[in-house]
Amino acid sequence: MEDTVTEAVRKQYEAYSYPPPIEDAEKFLKQWGPLTCDPRFAGVQLWPEGRPRQDLRILCAGCGSSQAPLIALNNPDCSVVGIDLSEASLAHSNRHRDRHGLSNLELRQVSLLDVARLNRSFDLIISTGVLHHLPDPDAGLRALADVLDLEGSMAIMLYGTAGRAGVYLLQDTLRRLGAGPDAGGLRMARELLKFVPPNHPLISTTGKLPNDLADDAGVVDMLLHPQDRAYSVPEVMTFVETAGLVFFGWNDNALYCADRFLSGEMLDRVLALPAAEQWAVIDNLAVLNDRHDFFVRKPQSARFLTRFDTDDYLSYVPFIRAGTRLAGDANALMLTRPSPQGEMRIPISRAEALLLEQADGNRSISEILSHAVFARLEPAQRTNFARDACERLWRSGHVLFGRRNS
Ligand SMILES: C[S@@+](CC[C@H](N)C(=O)[O-])C[C@H]1O[C@@H](n2cnc3c(N)ncnc32)[C@H](O)[C@@H]1O
Repeated sequence: MEDTVTEAVRKQYEAYSYPPPIEDAEKFLKQWGPLTCDPRFAGVQLWPEGRPRQDLRILCAGCGSSQAPLIALNNPDCSVVGIDLSEASLAHSNRHRDRHGLSNLELRQVSLLDVARLNRSFDLIISTGVLHHLPDPDAGLRALADVLDLEGSMAIMLYGTAGRAGVYLLQDTLRRLGAGPDAGGLRMARELLKFVPPNHPLISTTGKLPNDLADDAGVVDMLLHPQDRAYSVPEVMTFVETAGLVFFGWNDNALYCADRFLSGEMLDRVLALPAAEQWAVIDNLAVLNDRHDFFVRKPQSARFLTRFDTDDYLSYVPFIRAGTRLAGDANALMLTRPSPQGEMRIPISRAEALLLEQADGNRSISEILSHAVFARLEPAQRTNFARDACERLWRSGHVLFGRRNS
């Protein structure tokens, strides 16, 4: 028996499948590339030590209209289970299953709170845009943790408080006007949107309404939802810890990168804080994040966490993130790549560029440092340079670090 909130959420997603269904999963992947939670995209972030097996057992918890088929199509060696409350969204996913012959995809209408009923465990659990719609998100994360393998990894997306201030102001206004997640509420929301002034926090820095509002399901999901909440960075950390899990990194560090927004004394002060405090400061200051995409693991496998406060980093294998390019000229080198909020550029030194030139996805930092170009440096100078460079390039998200499979 569902509680009334869950019943209202289910009804909404029956009437307005979200995200709006895509026509063809193959075309979508060709045009946009893999989802950022796809193990073929986020592999080294999910498992720096190498994936636990080729044929991953993947759960998409609250899979919506297309996520599970997109993951199944792009990972034919893996088995994918998609669960959702909404029969309508599952029907869209089923159409992709039939169209692309996805025999590795199973779809079930089950609440993620009841996932234990499936009697399975998973290497990867993807739950994006779902847990913040539960009346008790902590219970949701606990239910998912219970079916995560010890060496498994989870990709989660929760709404971000800082970037959603405008959304909550409009939600509150619509609630006062009596608008609900139905055709009448939708009409009222569309009418109200005509009066949103250009300085409202709902409006982006480029002067536009969020893209999601182009579509009815997007308006209902964003402005008329019966149940959603958002998280600050410290709340994300508490959420993860409360479930007995370990925060394992952001999908894209650029969105929390102090070097990108600060300089001089203020940058030094912020960099002296523990990592989670740095991220909280940047989230508050930059107001970029209307969502937090991150990974979590069980404490047993948290030994693979990327950190630079011991000499372990010397054994890390650097991977340059997809899309990263070297730009500029010999006097002013830049590292640049696309990120969710536009081009992410940072200046880099000639020595850092040389280090990256040696990053072939096999060599460790200490192997790279044994290269002739670094031989003229004193040993301590060499390791200090490497630690600072690696930490900075990791903070900006241009470089990810794997571990060698032993
Ligand atoms: C915003 S959509 C996100 C869909 C998908 N994860 C994505 O990123 O494309 C939220 C989905 O979560 C589902 N959902 C909400 N509460 C759920 C629950 N308790 N168990 C399973 N699915 C749930 C909804 O039906 C809806 O399809």
